Amino acid sequence: MSFLSNSLSRVKPSPTMAITGLAQELQAAGRDIIGLSAGEPDFDTPDHIARAGIAAIEAGKTRYTAVDGTSELKQAICAKFARDNDLTYHPDQITISSGGKQVLFNALKATLNAGDEVVIPAPYWVSYPDMVEMCGGTPVIVPCPIETRFKLTPAQLRNAITPKTKWLIFNSPSNPTGAGYTRAELQALTDVLLDFPHVWVMSDDMYEHLAFDGFEFCTPAQVEPQLFERTLTVNGMSKAYCMTGWRIGYAGGPKVLIDAMRKVQSQTTSNPCSISQAASVAGLNGPHDFIARHNEAFVRRRNLVVARLNAIDGIACPTPEGAFYVYPDISGLMGKTSAGGKFMATDEDFATALLEETGVAVVFGAAFGLSPNFRISYATSDDALAEACTRIETFCAGLT
Ligand SMILES: Cc1ncc(COP(=O)(O)O)c(C=O)c1O
Repeated sequence: MSFLSNSLSRVKPSPTMAITGLAQELQAAGRDIIGLSAGEPDFDTPDHIARAGIAAIEAGKTRYTAVDGTSELKQAICAKFARDNDLTYHPDQITISSGGKQVLFNALKATLNAGDEVVIPAPYWVSYPDMVEMCGGTPVIVPCPIETRFKLTPAQLRNAITPKTKWLIFNSPSNPTGAGYTRAELQALTDVLLDFPHVWVMSDDMYEHLAFDGFEFCTPAQVEPQLFERTLTVNGMSKAYCMTGWRIGYAGGPKVLIDAMRKVQSQTTSNPCSISQAASVAGLNGPHDFIARHNEAFVRRRNLVVARLNAIDGIACPTPEGAFYVYPDISGLMGKTSAGGKFMATDEDFATALLEETGVAVVFGAAFGLSPNFRISYATSDDALAEACTRIETFCAGLT
């Protein structure tokens, strides 16, 4: 009898965290490393939000709160959904957890039975398939290649749905590609879902505010109100508010689902951090001008990286609509050998050789379910990005 659970045997540790860890180890050993693998903004938490956290400690808001969040934060989230997404949620349709990750996990844990299928377009955020496996479900991966700009088409969605499908996980702008669905593209998908009333939508809107060049963000329940009763609209403070360490994610959804998610949380972690919840109220209700300032930097960095990568023979890099990632295709580099003698059979070989030979840490595409590619997180300084691009150019020029 195995000591460890069978459900865990199918789960891989997060590859993004593994690469970030390896890069940190090399750095500690004295190597000159440029880390482009971490999925978090390089900006500090805005001052007014941090101060609200300090004020919460000083005011003694340091005790347990209601299991799935304070009423102040639920009110602020309802106001946010109405303001940004034309969605009317009541506080009893809101849940708050320790990060978006826990929201997604709670929802899957609360709903999946053995054999239930979850449609996941690839490339996907690394945790989706593993969470589905951990909760006893079956991920159904749908490859969305560069030709459709890494986006799911209506025909692909229709083909992927079976009587066992419970959820579609939808993520726009996407980690790892930065691709954002236009309203028309999203409407074409929601039209398909209207034909399958047994399928629910888990919309991961974590990168909502990181949208560039006038891209209009929209979310499924907003585009198709008929889906409201079977959509979980997930969002959080981590990315746009630069609060990755504070651990606050939230969602709006039908009460029956929200109640079930509360049950999961009540028997696992209880409430998310009381101090972080108070800071999040200040974040959601306060000024948002910092987002435009941050996005200006992100657009500049995105343009720099896309231009430099596309100038390299064998690399093709679409310009994404949002998030802070690019996901270049490296089909043209496969089968070559690096100056250090590493044969490029896979994108993992590419990322490993790039790290070992040049000190640039990126995440290989296989981790996100679509190869051969790699992901760059450009949430770092312009200088570091320029230097990283120079090293990637030199590395690629040395391939034979
Ligand atoms: C697409 C996506 N969803 C969810 C999360 C989880 O965010 P959090 O840090 O709030 O748990 C991330 C974080 O990287 C993400 O990229």
